Amino acid sequence: MRVLVTGGAGFIGSNLVDRLLADGHDVTVFDNLSTGKLANLSDARRQVDLPLDFVRIDITSDALEPALAKVRPEVVLHLAAQIDVRSSVADPVHDAMVNVIGTVNLLEASRRHGVSKLVHTTSGGCIYGEPPLEDLPVAETYPGHPHSPYGASKRGVEEYLHTFQARHVRRGRPALQHRHRAPDQRQRAVLRFGGVDRLRPAAAACSGATRGAASQRPGHHPGA
Ligand SMILES: NC(=O)c1ccc[n+]([C@@H]2O[C@H](COP(=O)([O-])OP(=O)(O)OC[C@H]3O[C@@H](n4cnc5c(N)ncnc54)[C@H](O)[C@@H]3O)[C@@H](O)[C@H]2O)c1
Repeated sequence: MRVLVTGGAGFIGSNLVDRLLADGHDVTVFDNLSTGKLANLSDARRQVDLPLDFVRIDITSDALEPALAKVRPEVVLHLAAQIDVRSSVADPVHDAMVNVIGTVNLLEASRRHGVSKLVHTTSGGCIYGEPPLEDLPVAETYPGHPHSPYGASKRGVEEYLHTFQARHVRRGRPALQHRHRAPDQRQRAVLRFGGVDRLRPAAAACSGATRGAASQRPGHHPGA
């Protein structure tokens, strides 16, 4: 399968690329290397008999759509993001530009060029604000509001996913599916929106379980 991984030079994305290649997929990475590193893809690149293309590109740019059209991915796994909560407080405009505008830019390009499925990575905790300890773990329906611009941008994108579902979902397909896989705080749920999926860790404290995603790659800074 032709798979596009945005943010594929980052911590999670590069591990994902290793796995996709090992499973025999044809992988292209889009990344602007703002926090990611080509070195993270060195294992993947050593597998010379497997196809891996790297394109240095910013997901907010006008160049994204023609670049995606050239790749013609069947599936997009979207991990490119501004992931630092403190940076989002210091510069909420940049956070929104990357996480909201960049994602909508990608959604539109994906829709226009025949992508059948898009998986978005959101935040397991920041989108719920800071629930009191006695409320943890919270359900995905928890009504808390984000306390950081990062949480707000991740939550805002979820609204865009619902909007794209409403406008572009194919008839006869299930509107929404939750699949919980493991009983720990880093479990993930896949939410299916017809042609658009989002993948997110289940509820966990913004600065707790998400920071527990300790780096397997040199130079990684913990995110949220
Ligand atoms: N690491 C965690 O604990 C954690 C927890 C929950 C959710 N997430 C989400 O998972 C995804 C991946 O996180 P990560 O920990 O691998 O982060 P990371 O910073 O290691 O990877 C993000 C990648 O996106 C790239 N990128 C950033 N802005 C870009 C832009 N404008 N255009 C193109 N590429 C850009 C970076 O260079 C980097 O390679 C993010 O969406 C993040 O919000 C991470």
